[in-house]
Amino acid sequence: AQLIEEIDAVTASTPEQVEAFRIRYLGSKNILRPLMGEMRTIPNERKPDFGQLVNRAKQHAQDKFDGLQAALASQESATAGSELDLTAPAEPMPLGSRHPIALTMRRIVSIFERIGFAVAEGPEIEDDWHNFSAMNTPEDHPARDMQDTFYTGADMPAGPNNSAMLLRTHTSSVQARTMEAQQPPIRIIAPGRVYRNETISARSHAQFHQVEGLYIAERVSFADMKATLLHFAREMYGEKTKIRLRPSYFPFTEPSAEMDIWWGLETEHDHRITKGTGWLEILGCGMVDPAVLENCGIDPERYTGYAFGMGIERQAMLLYNITDIRLMFENDVRFLRQFASVV
Ligand code: PHE
Repeated sequence: AQLIEEIDAVTASTPEQVEAFRIRYLGSKNILRPLMGEMRTIPNERKPDFGQLVNRAKQHAQDKFDGLQAALASQESATAGSELDLTAPAEPMPLGSRHPIALTMRRIVSIFERIGFAVAEGPEIEDDWHNFSAMNTPEDHPARDMQDTFYTGADMPAGPNNSAMLLRTHTSSVQARTMEAQQPPIRIIAPGRVYRNETISARSHAQFHQVEGLYIAERVSFADMKATLLHFAREMYGEKTKIRLRPSYFPFTEPSAEMDIWWGLETEHDHRITKGTGWLEILGCGMVDPAVLENCGIDPERYTGYAFGMGIERQAMLLYNITDIRLMFENDVRFLRQFASVV
């Protein structure tokens, strides 16, 4: 009993102390062993009681040792954790930035989304029908020369009506695809990449981006188009922005127009460096030609609509004072990093 009290009283908080406890009570020379040796001197009738006592002391020592070890282990894991300073500032993580084209595209798209336009998409590798013929530009049409087209090789499967495959020259092909797939009311914008076989320079590239718009319903007028485009220009370039519509020609719209915005000191965007004051063309538009509606399965007697298409690079260059379009396709990080703070 005395021994059990002694064992209970032991405190051991370091690994060395716990080991000392083990040697003293459980090791090969532990203090309980000589007690067993004393068994000879014990009278026979008391031997069982004595043996039991010694065994109890042994078991007690073992339990105590297990407890001490467990305490030690949990203590160790606790101190291991305390070496971690959870309040220390984290290593800075390098963040990427959005590309100026993506930034500009997103801005344009969200302006139209807020007034009810839905985003539509079409393939970049397109067939002749959707890019040209459906858009009222048949094979022998002189307007095909307006856009120098990349045709894909003869190994590409042909499109509808055995038409050739090409890289779309404008997002207007998405107009055709949307009208084929759905009846009015149609109100979509289609952002995407387009290709033209043009000499690459500071001002033009063989790949660029456009955002197409299409609105078809009953009694849509040219005035509706003008109001919508004015709203767009003011959201994009500031509320004092002025627009001008000049008569133009596209095979798929009649009448057609080009829209300029006034770029000058009295408007909000007077941070510009690279552009002087003047009218700048930003998009082509017009009332969808009845022949296009007909081609795409929409009744031209019942429905009218307008369409517009705008280049993105040029507007990105205006917004961010970029003087060479080629910078946008070289992915030089020194260029890209400058847009890190733009959201
Ligand atoms: N597709 C024309 C272009 O690429 C732009 C346009 C779209 C004009 C829709 C009128 C209507 O230049």
